[in-house]
Formats: sequence, structure tokens, C-alpha cells
Amino acid sequence: MADQQARTDRDKRPTGIPVIRWEEPPEGPVLVLLDQTRLPAEEAELVCTDAPALVEAIRSLAVRGAPLLGIAGAYGVALAAVRGFDVAEAAGALAGARPTAVNLAVGVRRAQAAHEAALVKTGDPAAAAAAALAAARALHREDAEASARMAAHGLALLDELLPGGGHRILTHCNSGSLVSGGEGTAFAVALRAHREGRLRRLWVDETRPLLQGARLTAYEAARSGMAYTLLTDNAAGSLFAAGEVDAVLIGADRIAADGSVANKVGSYPLAVLARYHHVPFIVVAPMTTIDPDTPDGASIEVEQRPGFEVTEVTAPQVPVTGAGGGIPVAPLGTQAYNPAFDVTPPELVTAIVTEEGAVSPVTAAALAELCARSRQV
Ligand code: MRU
Repeated sequence: MADQQARTDRDKRPTGIPVIRWEEPPEGPVLVLLDQTRLPAEEAELVCTDAPALVEAIRSLAVRGAPLLGIAGAYGVALAAVRGFDVAEAAGALAGARPTAVNLAVGVRRAQAAHEAALVKTGDPAAAAAAALAAARALHREDAEASARMAAHGLALLDELLPGGGHRILTHCNSGSLVSGGEGTAFAVALRAHREGRLRRLWVDETRPLLQGARLTAYEAARSGMAYTLLTDNAAGSLFAAGEVDAVLIGADRIAADGSVANKVGSYPLAVLARYHHVPFIVVAPMTTIDPDTPDGASIEVEQRPGFEVTEVTAPQVPVTGAGGGIPVAPLGTQAYNPAFDVTPPELVTAIVTEEGAVSPVTAAALAELCARSRQV
């Protein structure tokens, strides 16, 4: 049975934006998540005591964003192992909770492999569970390190492409501390530019239908003290036309071997706008987001979400009335098209920035070389 409890005690959380942590109270180990569905109205936590609870948290987007999904998935395997549940079953459920972000399956596999190897070696379930937890912790740490390196590479690239500084960056969805063991991917680049005095403004797309931009990126931007402005997704065109955007920076959920980039729906139209207006379109993602087993964009499975996310306003602070738990904004029975992601072809991507450096132009050969180089490190 899923066992998820709400906790709202802000004082128990460390500094920064603590999105995920492992705790070992006397009742047994738990995974504590910042419930992102309730931001920015409330900084509440979810306590997961088993993998089904975590699967639910992943599906509801309480925990979300590609790198964080990988970390959460790895901790989920550890949780199942430590609590004596069927690890293979838990791993299957976790990896299948959302299909597009490859990091989720990668994180799950890593903890599961560590568990299996330790079990074969020692025959001791406790040692195997400890190995799964160590793998999750290592992934968590590595993601924080990768985040810092992506920020450095990303800002260096921006400075090269846009000499003179004073960058006005447009971003979509949320790619900061809320999706990472560190400060994130695309947002981390903007944050570094801000800290170094080279960010003039962060333009934040609200990101319909679940408002990750308005609820989460604006929340992170406000905490950082950077200059930022929120816009509706459909205002981006006029912003480009007014010459107000120097670069687009986004994260990714999966990068195919040919350089196609799946990211939050609405990213592809920005790439088209950026190309028309001769503005760099830069993707920032850890190496774990590159999936050599997915040959091209057409092979990426795009998650389809429930229609009520479009036909109702489901923000946490509005009173509940509709079938999906929100206020209906469309006639009853209206069908909705609600893909969670879209795919941008490599020819529209100026550069892909990873912790191992940037690839530009984006080609299958350049990506394969980057992957090979990173395996040797
Ligand atoms: O549906 P979400 O909120 O999980 O989507 C998240 C995104 O699309 C992010 O832009 C992506 O995971 C990259 S964040 C590093």
C-alpha cells in the first residue's frame, strides 16, 4: 500500500531548496520530498515510506524534472530494499512511472544494479540494501557536481556567443534547484550569470498547463534576487519581435542519439521563434539525459497527461470543484490535447551544454564523441 504522509514543518529542512532527502527515524527509513504541487503557496513535505508512495509522487509531479527523477528513482529502489520489499517489482514500477525523462530509468537501474551485485557477492540482503542506498547517494552527489560544471560551461558559452554581457535569457518550465541535487541545469546557468553580474533579466514562460514556470521558476528566481519577468507562453513571440531576448536556455528530459531534444511542451515553438529571430537556442542537461539507445526524436515516447489539466485550473491554491480537482475553464466534456513534452530537432538547437562541455553544432557524431570521452573520464 502507498504510504505517503504530509508534513509541513519547515524548520526541519536544511538551507537552500531541499527537494529530497533520506531520513532514518526510529520507525524506519523514509524518503522526504518537497511537494512541488503545492509551491509557491506552501512549502510542504511528503514523506514516502515505500515505493508505491514514491510512484504516486512522481505521477502527480510532487517530485519532477529529469535529474531529480533519476535521484528519486534510485532512492526509491533503496527504500524498497531497506524495508524488505520486492526490489525488482519496485524498480519496474518506479522506472515506468513517467516515460519521457530517461534519467528516471537510469537512476533506478543504477541502484538496482548495485543491489544485485552486492547480493550476488555477499548473499546478505542488508548489505545489498546498503549498496543500493550508497548508489542513490552517489548519484545525488554527482548530480550536484554536474550542475556546477554545467553552469560554468553554459555561462562561458553565453559569454562567447553574446560578448558584452547583460544577458536577457528566456527560459521555459523549471530547471533549477527544484529538479536537481545542485542548482539545476538551464536555470543554474542564469543563476551563475546573475551572481557574476552578467544577467540583465530572466524571462520566465509561465508553462501551461501546470505552470512550472510561474509556480516554480519564478519562486526560485525571486529567492535568488535576480531580475525576472513572468510572461504567458503565447507572449514569447512578441518578446522576440521586440528584440528583448538574447538567448533561450532550457533543460531536457531526453536527448536522442541524433541530438533531438525532448523537453516540456512549448520548447519546440521557442526553438522555431529563436531560429527566425537569429537568437541562440541552448539546451543544458547532464550526460545522464543523453540516451544513445534512442536513435532519434520520433523514437522518444512523449507522455500524454490527463485532459483535466487543460480543461480545469488545477493550481493548488484554487478551491476544488471540477472532476480533476480544479475549476473548470472549458465546457463539460471538452476533449484536450495534453502532451507533457515536445521534441525539438537538432538543427534548431544551437548547442547542448553538459558537465563534460558543449556540443555545437549538434550532430549525432559530435554527441557520440562527447559520450565516448565522458566514459573515459
Ligand atoms: O513535467 P515536468 O515538470 O517533470 O517537466 C520538467 C521539464 O520539462 C524540465 O524542463 C526538464 O526536466 C529539464 S530540468 C533539468
